[in-house]
Order: sequence, then C-alpha cells, then structure tokens
Amino acid sequence: MGWNSWNTFGENIHESLIEETAAALVETGLAEIGYRFVNIDDCWHAEARDDEERLTWDAAKFPGGIPRLAEAVHGMGFGFGIYSCAGTHTCAGRVASFGNEEKDAQTFADWGVDFLKYDYCNKPFGVDGRTLYFRMGQALRSTGRHIIFSACEWGNTEPWLWGRQAGCHMWRTTGDISDSWESIKAIGFSQFGKELYAGPNAWNDPDMLVVGMKGVGNVAAGGCSLDEYKTHFALWCLLAAPLLIGCDVRSIDAESLAILGNRRLVAVNQDKMGAQARLVGSDYHHWDHTLFPTLVKPLADGGLALGMFNLHDERTVQLQAAWEAIGLHDRRPCQVQDLWTGEDLGVHRSFFCAKAAPHAGVVVKLTPLPL
Ligand code: GLA
Repeated sequence: MGWNSWNTFGENIHESLIEETAAALVETGLAEIGYRFVNIDDCWHAEARDDEERLTWDAAKFPGGIPRLAEAVHGMGFGFGIYSCAGTHTCAGRVASFGNEEKDAQTFADWGVDFLKYDYCNKPFGVDGRTLYFRMGQALRSTGRHIIFSACEWGNTEPWLWGRQAGCHMWRTTGDISDSWESIKAIGFSQFGKELYAGPNAWNDPDMLVVGMKGVGNVAAGGCSLDEYKTHFALWCLLAAPLLIGCDVRSIDAESLAILGNRRLVAVNQDKMGAQARLVGSDYHHWDHTLFPTLVKPLADGGLALGMFNLHDERTVQLQAAWEAIGLHDRRPCQVQDLWTGEDLGVHRSFFCAKAAPHAGVVVKLTPLPL
C-alpha cells in the first residue's frame, strides 16, 4: 500500500512534490491506515549515466538528490520506491537497466530504495523477457537489502506463472489503467482465473488506483462517478491487489479520502490469508456473470467478503448471493455487515440480497454463526 507519481503527474515530478505527498499522507491519516510507500515512477533520471556508468537523477527535478529524498521519506515513516525498466530505455525514453542490472540494483540499495517497479519497454529483440526479471531479482537479492520487486510487463508473458520464482513480490497482469469507468471495468473484471497464483508476498497487480483523480492528471480519461470509484476500490480490495494511490493526495476531496481510507475494506485487502476473490454464481438467480459479477474472498477469521456488482449502465437491480454458491451450508446463519458503512445488516440464512445502482456494488462481510 502506498502512493505512486505516475497516474497524476507523469513526467512532472519534483522532490518537493514527493515530500509534500508524504506529508499529506500523514496529515490525511492515510499513512496510519496503511499507505506506507511513496514511489517515484518514470522520468526521475538524468539524460545519461554518470562517469562510473551509474544511474543518476535529474538535478533540476531533484536538486537535493535521490538519497537525501529517500532519507526524508524514511524520516516520515515511509518506504521509498523507484522505477526502472528491463529494456535499454524506460517507456518514457529514459536510460534503463538492460545489461546493468547488478550495478543498478546496488545503486538503488545504496540510495536506500525499498521498492522497485520494473517496466518492460525497449527490450532488445530476441531476448527472453522473463530472463530479465530473473536477472534483476537475483541482482536485488545480492545487494542484501530487502527491496520489494514489482514486475510491470503487463501480463504479456503470464508473470503469475513465474514471477514468484523470479523474486517478484507483485506483477502487473494488464495494460495501463486510465481514469475512466471503461478502463476500471475492463481491467478489474478480467482478473478471474489468476486467483490461485496470488498469496502472501506474491500478488497479481491490476495497476494503480485512479480513485480521487476526478478526470485530472496524466492518465485522466474523463473521470469516474463516486459509485464507479467505490466499485474500483472495493474490487481492488477483494482482489487482494496492491493499493497504490494515484491521485494528488495534497488536494484530495473528502469523498475520495473516505473511499481510500475505509478501514474495513483495507482490512479485507490486507487480510493475512492473502486470498484473491474468485468469481461465483448463484443457483437462485438468473445471473449474468458479465453484467452482475459476484466475488467472494475468504478471510483468515473464517468470514467471507462478498462483492456483488451491477455493471448495467442504466438500471438499478436487486443482486443476490446464495450461500450454496459461495461454499456455505445453505442453512448456515451469517451475520452480515455493510463494509462501506459498518452497518449491521442482521442475520441471514441461505442467501443475501440488496439493491445496487448502475455501476455500483453491494460489498458486505459474512460472518458464519453456529448452525
Ligand atoms: C508503462 C507502465 C506505467 C508507467 C509508464 C511510465 O506504461 O505500465 O505504469 O510506469 O510506463 O513510462
């Protein structure tokens, strides 16, 4: 959990932005809720490597230098993240790590980096991309510093099959997100079938959050409604996806803060069982899985997080989940709690149903009681 510069700021990053963001994460309470990494994405680099072939920073953007910035970010209680790429150049054309993996891993460790996002642009022709992630994973381990390794090859070579072995702690499963309902829907509801590959220290990553961008910034694409942002966040929590905020937290509005700061949903996301929700159906309803997907995430305390979503563009619908369909005995009573509001929705047997507006969801926790 943390923040990343790309979604809102793209190449327009500066050390004061990074420090102000860390301060804003503390002031808003988001840091205390668990957003503990401050990550710089692409475009922090100088034009070329230094005299000793080491990567170095753009001195106009980072006049105090990256090591000092890392120290400042650490001083505020955060981990510090940086970005490089497995190819010769990053996606935005900056100098990258191909052929210099050991040197760059050591540089990052020397700077106090705690998290590395590793992209996939400009890979030399004929080179097996997977090997490049194994190589950087090995280089990072050789530094002796614990650095979270985030692979970003967009799901091209099924990184869920080999990422864990390459030393990756998370891997992107899709192309880039944008701040629109179409993007959230396409990415968020395309994750089914990969749940067996996720677990503690190894996560499927459907890209960073756009909650709170409201149509402004680098990946802006019209913005989303409040219900759409809530669906986005609830879905990422159910999917046990990494939660990296992408908006400008210095000026975040109250509604977006309430979404990102919902402790019950964050607890579902961070649940120590580490299960990624699976898609289920129901025998009691004419489900259309495409229009009304129902997800269930088992939790370590024996409870289940249930999300039922209405992807219809105009109609409010009644959504229903039958216990049978989600792996419970059909007479098992369950205490139901609304995860958005915390409201106790009573004890239910056999099924639970509730209405959802277009693009909204019903997101609840089921706590099974004795039969
Ligand atoms: C790729 C990645 C993005 C971002 C940009 C930076 O597109 O998928 O998340 O890091 O590169 O250039």
